[in-house]
Amino acid sequence: PNERPLAGKKVVITAGPTRERIDPVRYVSNFSSGKMGYAMAEAAASLGATTILVSGPVGLDKPAGVTVIDVESAADMYAAVRAHYKDASIVIKSAAVADYRPKEIHTQKMKKKDGDSVIELERTTDILKSLGEMKTEQILVGFAAETEHAVDYGRGKLESKNLDYIIVNDVTDPDAGFGKDTNVVTLLSRKGMHQPFEAMPKKELAKVLLETIIKEESDRLHD
Ligand code: PMT
Repeated sequence: PNERPLAGKKVVITAGPTRERIDPVRYVSNFSSGKMGYAMAEAAASLGATTILVSGPVGLDKPAGVTVIDVESAADMYAAVRAHYKDASIVIKSAAVADYRPKEIHTQKMKKKDGDSVIELERTTDILKSLGEMKTEQILVGFAAETEHAVDYGRGKLESKNLDYIIVNDVTDPDAGFGKDTNVVTLLSRKGMHQPFEAMPKKELAKVLLETIIKEESDRLHD
């Protein structure tokens, strides 16, 4: 068997959280550690791909053989991904992108005042959705982090964002989700695939997921 099925192919992966600034010392973010996305990048590189990893702020070592682009906010991530989208064969969005950011970024540290405070939030761009709208030949893979109706909500996102695959994790499972070394996912495809995977280390799972997708897409990847 071909041990480098992605040789000559460009794979773009996002990982980690985004940080949305409130003022020079504070931000809004989430608990993504980047482990899932870094594992996907390592797997893509080991399968021979030219791998671009667009990473939010995480505390992980850079994987060998991968080009890492460090970003902070959802807007930065969107710009970096767009710059590499056109000639990518596969794009995998493992990042936990902030859906909202503070409407105003204070240029000075906000002072403490008496009583409660409110921070107004506005929507960020849905990166995956706009990639779905711009899609030409790319195989577009999303993740869905759900706390209920995981597979149904996942299929909804697959369709509404024009994806080829979505990897659904029920983040209430003790072996799954944010910060864990393992994950439990179901892989859904546009063509109707519905494949659940046992709990497994993210590094192992990443390779199995990519190999499954490569097998399904062998025609599109090797024409
Ligand atoms: O980083 P770890 O600690 O290893 O945890 C892994 C993980 C749980 C973060 C990962 O497995 C995961 O599920 N990532 C996606 C998290 C998420 O934001 O899911 P979502 O259902 O909110 O978003 C759906 C998809 O749209 C995702 O592919 C996301 O990258 C994308 N999105 C969301 C919002 C936005 N503004 N732009 C996007 O592109």
